[in-house]
Amino acid sequence: MKNPAPAEFPIHELIANRWSPRAFGDKDVSPETLRSLFEAARWAPSSSNEQPWSFLVATRNDKENFAKALQPLVEFNVNWAKSAAVLGFAVSELAFAKNKAPNRNAQYDTGAAMALLSIEATARGLFVHQMAGFDPETAREVFNIPVGFDAIAAFAVGYPGDAATLPQPLRDRELAPRSRKPVRDFVMTGQWAQPAPFVSK
Ligand SMILES: Cc1cc2nc3c(=O)[nH]c(=O)nc-3n(C[C@H](O)[C@H](O)[C@H](O)COP(=O)(O)O)c2cc1C
Repeated sequence: MKNPAPAEFPIHELIANRWSPRAFGDKDVSPETLRSLFEAARWAPSSSNEQPWSFLVATRNDKENFAKALQPLVEFNVNWAKSAAVLGFAVSELAFAKNKAPNRNAQYDTGAAMALLSIEATARGLFVHQMAGFDPETAREVFNIPVGFDAIAAFAVGYPGDAATLPQPLRDRELAPRSRKPVRDFVMTGQWAQPAPFVSK
């Protein structure tokens, strides 16, 4: 199912077509495609080229590790994410490897890597649904994540499915129009809350 963004201004179709569904299809994601998703993440920019991201990933065919990846998720997310082909966690290293100083952009850079992964996924007919609804300490225990690294977000990846397979409240959300704040609300010039002239109407 497609759910393109009703964009205010023209954008690339890959960005318009990226969205976060909860209904996923039965088709598995090949190892080759998975390699390309993480290759896309690899080429994200990062502060000092630190590349603070790591990913813990399980395909649903790997039953043991897929079950482990479901454990930290809140029940709301388990309900739909259990049907995805792939589950994962994006993890940030919180200090610079070279001098152990705090890296205040670690989460930011990890998000950039996830954004590129999501666009690569869209180009391949896949969708990524990220999740904050999980317990980071459970993730730490389940995956043995060391001190100095934090699980930032969980994510589900898969080919699109049928919204009719979702339970009712989720089905409505799946079919609801997508919405965003207008661009003029968050692009400013000169001082806070003054819309930039090129986005004021
Ligand atoms: C960091 C992050 C955390 C999110 N957490 C959840 C979550 O726990 N459960 C969920 O169903 N969706 C979650 N989402 C999906 C957002 O609700 C979704 O991205 C947002 O509504 C915009 O919709 P779109 O991605 O389809 O454009 C999360 C997205 C991000 C980026």
